Amino acid sequence: MKTIIEPFRIKMVEPIRMTTRREREIVLEKAHYNPFNIPSDACIIDLLTDSGTAAMSTEQWASLMRGDEAYAGSRSFYRFESVAKSLTNMRHIIPTHQGRAAERILFSIVAKEGMIIPSNTHFDTTRANIEYEKAEALDLLPKEGSDPQTILPFKGNMDCDALKRLIEKVGRERIPLCMLTVTNNAAGGQPVSMSNIKEVKSILSQYDIPLFLDAARFAENAWFIKQREPGYQDKSLVEIAREMFSYADGCTMSAKKDGLANIGGFLALNDDELAMKARSLLILTEGFPTYGGLAGRDLEAIAQGLQEVLDEDYMRYRIRSVEFLGENLLKEGIPVFQPIGGHAVYVDAKRFLPHIPPEHFPGQALVCALYLEGGIRAVEIGSVMFGRRNSDGTFVPATNELVRLAIPRRVLTQSHIEYVIEVMVEIKKKKETLRGLRIVEESPFLRHFTAKFEPL
Ligand code: F0G
Repeated sequence: MKTIIEPFRIKMVEPIRMTTRREREIVLEKAHYNPFNIPSDACIIDLLTDSGTAAMSTEQWASLMRGDEAYAGSRSFYRFESVAKSLTNMRHIIPTHQGRAAERILFSIVAKEGMIIPSNTHFDTTRANIEYEKAEALDLLPKEGSDPQTILPFKGNMDCDALKRLIEKVGRERIPLCMLTVTNNAAGGQPVSMSNIKEVKSILSQYDIPLFLDAARFAENAWFIKQREPGYQDKSLVEIAREMFSYADGCTMSAKKDGLANIGGFLALNDDELAMKARSLLILTEGFPTYGGLAGRDLEAIAQGLQEVLDEDYMRYRIRSVEFLGENLLKEGIPVFQPIGGHAVYVDAKRFLPHIPPEHFPGQALVCALYLEGGIRAVEIGSVMFGRRNSDGTFVPATNELVRLAIPRRVLTQSHIEYVIEVMVEIKKKKETLRGLRIVEESPFLRHFTAKFEPL
């Protein structure tokens, strides 16, 4: 059969409140034109993130009832640990309340002033946690990786030559570890090939530098390897995922993505000494090492989710549903980052709204238009998130001005997606009338979450 259907039935529904344009105008103004300030029940379709927004399965809901809420030695922890170990084959599994808590613990141990942590592209919380320790978060993405129109199978790959040059230039002492984000969220949700993971590992091994995966979307990455990399077509997603982890010395994981859970994460490590330090910090802020900021029932939901996410029928539907959105936007002449990523479609606002200069945030203008036109919430990944001002006040824009339409897992039907396409087409008809914005208030770290804007 040609049609790929949702491999699930709907057992419980959550009503969507329909809003009027007038109502949305008031909401947007009150939110200071920042989608993070919009109440979720004022959104018709919420594409802000694919993080923590998945619909849980019947087995996950059932496992919640089996959650063991013991402070120490919870049965649910052992189940969670055994699933995470069988996937990563790492010696230490340290639960955290979400991915950034794992990052915070890891980098507060290994990152110091003067150090550099290279990555294919750091996600914003990873970057912030590194910079908070006064170390440098360095993205080593090849030039084509950030070009929205170059079509390559593994555009999330790290530039291995740049990695070698970096190590030779600064010396291994200044590089406590190297990270690979799979899939590469901040660079269009693009996958990383197995051969790139292997090559990065082999370079690092010569210098005894550990490799860490930011594994938030490891299963989607495994699917792309199976589809696109020679030699992997007959392997199962579990086998591919295990091979990916086999080259790593540790990983940070946000279970809110490919854990199919609403909250949770973990830090996995092979190094005993590092694990001991991490557990001490865990107790300080997260909790005892057998729950780490999570309820026993959360640990159950993650253990179950980590297994379901590697089901091929699920993943075929998942990737196809995102691709369907991207393909149809392209057909309508709306520029998107290509190839279509795993968890989201990234609209290229620079090309879509060429009359709005980067310093007036074309991505944010499109985010506002999506909300006004159709009650769709999206997020800007451009100069609001990554732009900055030099000390002399000159504006340094981000490489791209993208708007991410992130698709929650197992939540939306095809007609929801068709609605999103229709709204984008309506916006296209009047795009010349859209205006940029200016920032009237911002914070020094991760400003996009709290900044206030004013339309120009
Ligand atoms: N790493 C990646 C690649 C991520 O995409 C995220 C979160 C994190 C780490 C942090 O994990 O949220 O559990 O603390 N990404 C979300 C997003 C927020 O919308 O892309 P967390």
